[in-house]
Amino acid sequence: MKKITVIGTGYVGLVSGTCFADAGNDVTCCDIDQVKINNLSQGIIPIYEPGLKELVHKNVRSGTLHFSANVPQAILDAEVVYIAVGTPMNSTGEADLTYVKQVAKTIAENLNGYKVIVTKSTVPVGTGRLVEKVIRKYSKDQHPFDVVSNPEFLREGSAIKDTLNMERAVIGATSEKAFQIIAELHQPFTSNIVKASLETAEIIKYAANAFLATKISFINDIANICERVGADVTKVSAGVGLDSRIGNKFLQAGVGFGGSCFPKDTAALLHIAEDCGYDFKLIKAVIETNEKQRVHLVEKLVNSLGELKGKTISVLGLAFKPNTNDIRSSPALDIIPYLAEQGAIVKAYDPIAIVETKKQIGYQCSYTENAYEAIKGSDACMILTDWQDVKNLDLAKVKQLMNQPLIVDGRNLFKLERMQELGFTYLSVGRPA
Ligand code: UGA
Repeated sequence: MKKITVIGTGYVGLVSGTCFADAGNDVTCCDIDQVKINNLSQGIIPIYEPGLKELVHKNVRSGTLHFSANVPQAILDAEVVYIAVGTPMNSTGEADLTYVKQVAKTIAENLNGYKVIVTKSTVPVGTGRLVEKVIRKYSKDQHPFDVVSNPEFLREGSAIKDTLNMERAVIGATSEKAFQIIAELHQPFTSNIVKASLETAEIIKYAANAFLATKISFINDIANICERVGADVTKVSAGVGLDSRIGNKFLQAGVGFGGSCFPKDTAALLHIAEDCGYDFKLIKAVIETNEKQRVHLVEKLVNSLGELKGKTISVLGLAFKPNTNDIRSSPALDIIPYLAEQGAIVKAYDPIAIVETKKQIGYQCSYTENAYEAIKGSDACMILTDWQDVKNLDLAKVKQLMNQPLIVDGRNLFKLERMQELGFTYLSVGRPA
């Protein structure tokens, strides 16, 4: 059992802290946002993540999980300090390390004995060394410490499952002692431990996300070729993915990737490459293909519907993927404002991400409580998120409700034959129209 302090109660910090507590450690999750801490102390969770609320409540009740806005005290009490603060992308695509540096300074000022300081946030290569330097400077070398890079691989929507049964833990440590401490913490979750240097661990995180993003852009490029030659990308994915060297995951063609990770991390990796004088052409193309894919979907709509002015368009799905209310870099945030700008009347539906979307794009569209309400009277329907309730739509009812039976599906949810039988004009991605 270790005394762990996690600084930053965002996605990664909250999930990791809760799972460490569930494994029997004494965990304090802290944040400088007092309101957030008050809410968490009362069991109010700021994000939607299946299973998180229950696990937080369970561990608060059993006394292994605490919340505090007193960051210095939480550092004084800890043996292991996790840095899980945000590293937002600045205007040039670089990860902004302001919060990481601030936290490193606070840790230094409250170092009262040997501690392991772990970076969990996704940070550019060299950040671990920077944290080490900052702590050394402000602690005036009075106490020993080690720095570890222990990147996160959880996915939103399945974060608890991904953490409790992680496929691997990557641990880049500045000493064997620190490596052993962090490896032991991960024993309940996995036996696959990758031991690395700080720099290697930092690169592994970017390489993993960039590779997954590359798979998605690759299959989207193949999908666009399929459209031109009359082939079906879903069959291509199946045929290619059965080769175990390639694997069948992350080969779903569609509107492209969104979220807080792939867009930010591919841009940051490009910066890392530029900073060390390497022209990473492949990742540039991955980013470009992804941006174009959203435009491509809108072009399909316009080519079929003609002028958008005065047309009613329903948009199903605002979150960047299902089972989350996260809308960061979501396709809907680009597509809805564009449709509205062209004079279309947009009605949007999402089971849980409406509040967040309103904050971001306001009333450029109206919002409905269910998918059918959005679809009713629309001249076209765009599907942007593969929500289960959208997959389960009664298609005969959908056809009845629409002004014109035109569906532009950015997630390839329905069988082509079925859509044809029902009489839809069904434009999906990489499949014959
Ligand atoms: C991603 C990684 O999958 C995690 O391993 C990583 O820990 C996380 O980023 C992070 O860096 O924190 P996440 O962004 O939550 O996780 O979501 P994914 O499930 O990876 O999906 C990302 C985007 O790719 C979504 O917009 C999704 O719709 C899209 N996608 C995914 C496709 O378009 N096609 C696919 O075949 C798979």
